[in-house]
Amino acid sequence: MSTKPIGIFDSGAGGLSVWKEIKAQLPEESTIYISDSKYAPYGTKGKDAILKRSIINTETLLNKGAKIVVVACNTATTNAISILRENYDVPFIGIEPAIKPAALNTKTNCIGILATRGTLSSALFHETSQRYTKNLNVIEQEGNGIVELIEDGALFSTEMEKLLENYLSPMLDANMDCLVLGCTHYHFLTPILKKILPKNVTIIESGPAVARQTKAVLHEQNLLNKSGFRSQHSFYTNGSKEIISSLINCDKSAINKLK
Ligand code: DGL
Repeated sequence: MSTKPIGIFDSGAGGLSVWKEIKAQLPEESTIYISDSKYAPYGTKGKDAILKRSIINTETLLNKGAKIVVVACNTATTNAISILRENYDVPFIGIEPAIKPAALNTKTNCIGILATRGTLSSALFHETSQRYTKNLNVIEQEGNGIVELIEDGALFSTEMEKLLENYLSPMLDANMDCLVLGCTHYHFLTPILKKILPKNVTIIESGPAVARQTKAVLHEQNLLNKSGFRSQHSFYTNGSKEIISSLINCDKSAINKLK
């Protein structure tokens, strides 16, 4: 058993959607979250730049004592997780667009995938997509600009609504009934998406499955915290503390500057 924290990182505040699931499913566990906002978005950067940031974030988490690293970013997972796994001696949990559940659930045989360019262009995404969507109409859309608006505090803005309407309209014209949110930031769009999407469209995301997988791996490796001590949550950001506290309503004293 281990009282050490679960380390979690993302290019910004999006991974907090995964953090929320981990906290709900693993209430005894402490966490350390890194929001690498100064370098967001990752989605428009090349593979090498994404890998470099992923290594820096991993090393920061390991220096702070993380027993496991959750890559709470689809872009970093699809571009860097295999190299992280080869180079560090802790378990890594990644997140990828939930294509399989969408493919199994669609009745119209049309699914939409909203993700970053970095994710949609990755080999790992292509492999998964080809495996599960052979006879389906799959409409992929880069969510350009969404992460920037969220990081700038403009989540609930007219600009965001317009952007989403544009991105979703070809999917709706094609009669999509499952929308895959392939970026952890997009979870926070759910209230806006529910206004835009017809009732028959199911929004599918991977956060709950990532938390289940984190729990399973900690259990398998005998790393769960069974000490009975109260869990602690700390956040590190090289961007705005306000975004973090506004998205998860946490105590500002728990948010630290990331050097
Ligand atoms: N939350 C990251 C993801 O899941 C955002 C990507 C970005 O920074 O562009 O892909």
